[in-house]
Amino acid sequence: MKFFVDTADVNEIRELAATGLLDGVTTNPSLMLKANRPMKEVIAEICEIVEGPVSAEVAALDYDGMLREGRILAKIADNVTVKVPLTWDGLKVCRTLADEGTMVNVTLCFSAVQALLAAKAGATFISPFVGRLDDTGIDGMELIQDIRTIFDNYPELGTEILAASLRNSNHVKFAALAGADVATIPPAVIKGLVKHPLTDKGLDQFVADWSQTGQTIE
Ligand code: E4P
Repeated sequence: MKFFVDTADVNEIRELAATGLLDGVTTNPSLMLKANRPMKEVIAEICEIVEGPVSAEVAALDYDGMLREGRILAKIADNVTVKVPLTWDGLKVCRTLADEGTMVNVTLCFSAVQALLAAKAGATFISPFVGRLDDTGIDGMELIQDIRTIFDNYPELGTEILAASLRNSNHVKFAALAGADVATIPPAVIKGLVKHPLTDKGLDQFVADWSQTGQTIE
């Protein structure tokens, strides 16, 4: 499973990219609001740090407006993935941009049939929002499982499942078990994945025992 980071914070991205674990980045208008910097400048910087796909979301809602913005965003760098909402116009823009050779991430997916539509429209990625479904009392991970089954039934679709709105390490674990191709994860959750109390405890013991040997490794 590929790891994307879900943030527009360039410093966080730089830090995580240095681990070699980062395969891409997703941003959205809310994350841009937090970054509080010009979007095109932020996306250009991120694309220099990370070689993999970098999602940049359009703001318009109509076909012409989304297409115009998508083409502007796609020109920033070769690894820009234009993010469009799961609406009829969004799907039409997805088809047009995909035919032009631009990667497209269809976002705000909350049902398996929406995912099927996005795949048929040529999406590179479909983003089912797990956490936001969980918030409503519906098991978000079931959606990932359903989409996996459907996409496996029709491998010619070629769209990758990008598990989104992941809020904790269990979400990451279950996205991997469900066969998501990609997980986009907030920086704090990625950093938390390394943590286990038994790792800390075991390491403390090894450090203490090693110091008692009086040895050094030269
Ligand atoms: C994905 O591309 C979205 O930006 C993101 O995962 C949404 O997460 P949230 O529901 O925690 O805002």
